[in-house]
Amino acid sequence: MRTRLTELLGIDCPIIQGGMMWVGRAELASAVSNAGGLGILTALTQPTPDDLRREIERCRSMTSKPFGVNLTILPSVTPPPYAEYRRAIIESGVKIVETAGYKPQEHVDDFKSHGVKVVHKCTAVRHALAAERMGVDAISIDGFECAGHPGEDDIAGLILIPAAADKLKIPVVASGGFGDGRGLAAALALGAEGITMGTRFCATVEAPIHDNAKQLIVANDERGTNLIFRKLHNTARVAKNSVSDKVVEILLSSNAKFDDVAHLVRGVKGRELLETGDLDAGLIWAGQVQGLIHDIPTVAVLINRIMCEAGEIIRSRLAAMVAYG
Ligand SMILES: Cc1cc2nc3c(=O)[nH]c(=O)nc-3n(C[C@H](O)[C@H](O)[C@H](O)COP(=O)(O)O)c2cc1C
Repeated sequence: MRTRLTELLGIDCPIIQGGMMWVGRAELASAVSNAGGLGILTALTQPTPDDLRREIERCRSMTSKPFGVNLTILPSVTPPPYAEYRRAIIESGVKIVETAGYKPQEHVDDFKSHGVKVVHKCTAVRHALAAERMGVDAISIDGFECAGHPGEDDIAGLILIPAAADKLKIPVVASGGFGDGRGLAAALALGAEGITMGTRFCATVEAPIHDNAKQLIVANDERGTNLIFRKLHNTARVAKNSVSDKVVEILLSSNAKFDDVAHLVRGVKGRELLETGDLDAGLIWAGQVQGLIHDIPTVAVLINRIMCEAGEIIRSRLAAMVAYG
């Protein structure tokens, strides 16, 4: 399959593994790249920029194919040293970056001036247009279905993807809710040049997380998510579990503040869940696509299955409808 995305990134399959805190490590990123997609390391999963340099080297020892690094820029009282992480990415010779979050301009400028291709991930067409003006190479647009931060507009992919494709000149990658070949074929039909998947890649053999977390994703259906932090205007979609239920309940009270749930939502607690398999330890990020996830294949089997299914739909099922309809 050739699309503007496969051409831009030098990959065989138009499938990106989105950056994922605690999950986007060399094991998963290299497996995705080896299977023909674009694997992505998550910069801030590494405690320091030097650890990121080592992780990039580790990934390079596991694949000769292109892979990228995600840099998520979130407003914070004590921000991580973003510029140093950026330097580590550039100096390590990584040629593709997925940026996400708040005001990426200074990062985009620096990456572009060093010949790094930037895929910016966002959740609104107006933000995508701003990123295009900044000079990014592609936009990954996350619909309301997605795991993580869907933004505050609540626009599902069915509208958001073609709305973005209509307005942008650079390639659009559809993100949020994708997990099989039907989704890939639909994304292409909607005007995207490929898909980004997060939750689906968590339920694979190579995802470096506890099996209990993978089984939870398989067991949950499409209703198995909670939207938290709505009233704080920092909405996040996470898997439904005892902790996210509690966060929703506490924040429903009219005078509740972030401080009332801070002890439940700390990143280290989510990490503990993923490492120990204690499903009540913290939050686990996952999207509505859980309803379409029924197994834990290797990444190679998954990507091959998605490509075959999408090809079959486009070549046979849809073509037959046009020919005989
Ligand atoms: C466990 C997990 C952690 C994530 N962490 C990040 C992150 O640190 N930065 C980021 O930009 N996106 C993050 N995401 C979002 C994904 O990159 C991707 O945009 C999203 O998962 C797409 O929706 P889907 O899960 O329906 O495929 C995360 C997603 C998951 C499932």
